[in-house]
Amino acid sequence: MFYVTCFMKKVVNPFELFSYQGPKYFCDREDDVVKLNEALQNRRNTVLSSMRRLGKTNLIMHWHHQLAKIKNTTPIYIDVLGTKNDNEFIEQFVVAVVKATSNKENFAQKLLSIFGRLRPQISLDPYSGIPQVSLDIQTNADKAATFDIALNLLSESKVQFQIAIDEFQVIETYEKPSTIDAILRSHFPKLTNIHFLFCGSQQHMLSTIFSNPKRPMFSSTQHLTLGHIPYPAYFDFIKTHFEEHDMEISDQSIHEILTWTQSHTFYTHFLANEIFSKHAEKVTYELVKNSEVDCIKLFAVNYEHLLYTLPSNQTTLLKAIAVEKTNFSINEKAFLNKYNLSASSASLALKGLLDKDFLIVKMNGNIKSY
Ligand SMILES: Nc1ncnc2c1ncn2[C@@H]1O[C@H](COP(=O)(O)OP(=O)(O)OP(=O)(O)O)[C@@H](O)[C@H]1O
Ligand SMILES: [Mg+2]
Repeated sequence: MFYVTCFMKKVVNPFELFSYQGPKYFCDREDDVVKLNEALQNRRNTVLSSMRRLGKTNLIMHWHHQLAKIKNTTPIYIDVLGTKNDNEFIEQFVVAVVKATSNKENFAQKLLSIFGRLRPQISLDPYSGIPQVSLDIQTNADKAATFDIALNLLSESKVQFQIAIDEFQVIETYEKPSTIDAILRSHFPKLTNIHFLFCGSQQHMLSTIFSNPKRPMFSSTQHLTLGHIPYPAYFDFIKTHFEEHDMEISDQSIHEILTWTQSHTFYTHFLANEIFSKHAEKVTYELVKNSEVDCIKLFAVNYEHLLYTLPSNQTTLLKAIAVEKTNFSINEKAFLNKYNLSASSASLALKGLLDKDFLIVKMNGNIKSY
């Protein structure tokens, strides 16, 4: 959360850009929470996906914040983005379980004593002070056994666990083909007190894991796609937070914020954060327009770098789609001629941009850049 000194007192910017700061700073998502609760109550393991930066992780944090208040329910959050192989995944998993259960039923102690032969190393993170556990998993047999032990121990508990595994698609990028999905799938039938939420952005990777009949997780989960926060809810959220800080904001200004950012959560929040940081008594339309320019300047280096990493046909196609926005087809002659692309080069570029998540295919089959 950003603090800025204003008139000698600290003012919290209510448009937080990084971590979950509690319900007051969290906007809407009520319908999504209802769907997640239904999935939990009816023991339907679930895949949650969306475009990048739309709010999946914040939604999990918000949901877990509510679940943590329910007796005998323990939410466990695991971010596996940084893992490179199955062993690292399992380490992250065990560490998250140990952390979440450290004050419950001697659970963590039991787990660590069973893992004795895997030489658990426990240390304190020098920056956060949070306990770190690492396990010395050498063989495939150790790997499967470690995961089995952790899951079996959880399943013997009277507690209901909600386990959210964020960035699950990363298992598709491992050096060696992952068997994590197969191990998890084999445990599903007996884990009556454990509910899984698999979360990720790269939709094609997630769909390979869950929708390919040849893969172990095929047809074993329900799928939730996170959409944009509805306009009225976001409108009220922005208005309330500005007004709470005695900053008058016109409806036209809020409309401009939501339209310019297309209600894409991270960008909407970023623009609102930038406007708030100016501490104007009146948030005029002009101030919003100036802040949009400031935001673009703040991101310019990142975008230049991203474009620099793309092959030239992908850069050309990406720019063309950004300019045309809607009502075009990349197979049309007029489009190809206008941007000097051949049909084969455009189709290769399209594949590359979809693979990298620079473009997504929307439900109606249209292509969108973000
Ligand atoms: N419901 C919300 N209320 C308030 N702010 C939110 C909400 N959802 C998301 N945000 C804002 O958007 C940012 C991005 O959200 P989050 O990290 O949850 O998205 P994500 O979909 O998990 O992104 P990624 O694809 O990078 O994993 C957050 O840091 C926060 O600033
Ligand atoms: Mg996320």
